[in-house]
Amino acid sequence: MLMSDLISLESEILAQISAASDEATIEAVRVSALGKKGQISERMGALGKMAPDERKAVGAALNVLKDKVSEALVQRKAVVAEAALEIRLATEKIDMTLPTRPQSVGTIHPVSQVWEEVVQIFGDLGFSVAEGPHIEDDFHNFDALNMPPDHPARQEHDTFYFNEKSDGTRMVLRTHTSPVQIRTMLSQKPPIRIIAPGRTFRSDSDMTHTPMFNQVEALVIDEVTHLGNLKWILQEFCKAFFEVDDVKMRFRASHFPFTEPSMEVDIQYAREGGQLKIGTGDKWLEILGSGMVHPNVIKAGGLDPEKYQGFAFGMGLDRLAMLKYGIPDLRAFFESDLRWLRHYGFRALQVPTLAGGLS
Ligand code: DAH
Repeated sequence: MLMSDLISLESEILAQISAASDEATIEAVRVSALGKKGQISERMGALGKMAPDERKAVGAALNVLKDKVSEALVQRKAVVAEAALEIRLATEKIDMTLPTRPQSVGTIHPVSQVWEEVVQIFGDLGFSVAEGPHIEDDFHNFDALNMPPDHPARQEHDTFYFNEKSDGTRMVLRTHTSPVQIRTMLSQKPPIRIIAPGRTFRSDSDMTHTPMFNQVEALVIDEVTHLGNLKWILQEFCKAFFEVDDVKMRFRASHFPFTEPSMEVDIQYAREGGQLKIGTGDKWLEILGSGMVHPNVIKAGGLDPEKYQGFAFGMGLDRLAMLKYGIPDLRAFFESDLRWLRHYGFRALQVPTLAGGLS
């Protein structure tokens, strides 16, 4: 084997290495030079057949060549890897910036607005907020509210029932917020002064009814509260809510199973150019049901009706929103129509407060 052969082999392999532009080609060059049957390895294998002097010289030269080639491969690999990374960085970049929107388009739904207004007003009058589940049992939704199974008022509620359980009972979607009265009496000691705004459900749908709607319940229980207190509270609420100095109200004798006596409350209004004007006028609009809590209800709430008394009322939040903000069709409340929301909605962060103004 001639030394000149090794010199040309070296320049041949080094040329292949510097021409290789990807990792796979570099690996192929490595195998063909240094692999088991590679050009350098084969020559190493042939050393055994050489005379000792020649073996020494050629062996040393082959080792030098082997080191050079290994070194060149490592360097080329690094260069190619770097170039590949550059290409990936350039092509795989993701623009993670989000263009800003020209204006904030979200609005607060009128029902949320009215809900918050009501909480503010009654909060100021010393009421706290109570809650109950949407899925109720017969006891809380009916029985405990003085509506036994055969009571005709049950039929009026168009109740959504769940499937019967193995013990024959069925849960219901609460048909009113009144069950929160029972839950509150069973969990708090008098004096009780709560409101319970929340969702309610009845199988009913037209211009003024939707299967899901919102009510707010109120309950006051102590040893002395009477009908006069109820009238004053309702008057104060209506003035604050409709943002007027005076509201004419009519307390009409009525009947609810859970109150005795019971009253429905109407407020006076006028129609001016298609708009409702609350507080004056010659027309009456019913806005809520109320009364002194029935002794049977107080008993079902675990309290002694000989000792405790109080009032309750319930009104429709959606209806209040329609009246205050002149919204004609209740169904639109729950259609998620953005145009409707932009028209009737309220600016976010404009939280109603008594000090800062309700609406
Ligand atoms: N729960 C009644 C309804 O949904 C409303 C109501 C009337 C609630 C009189 C009361 C009340 O607390 O005293 O129709």
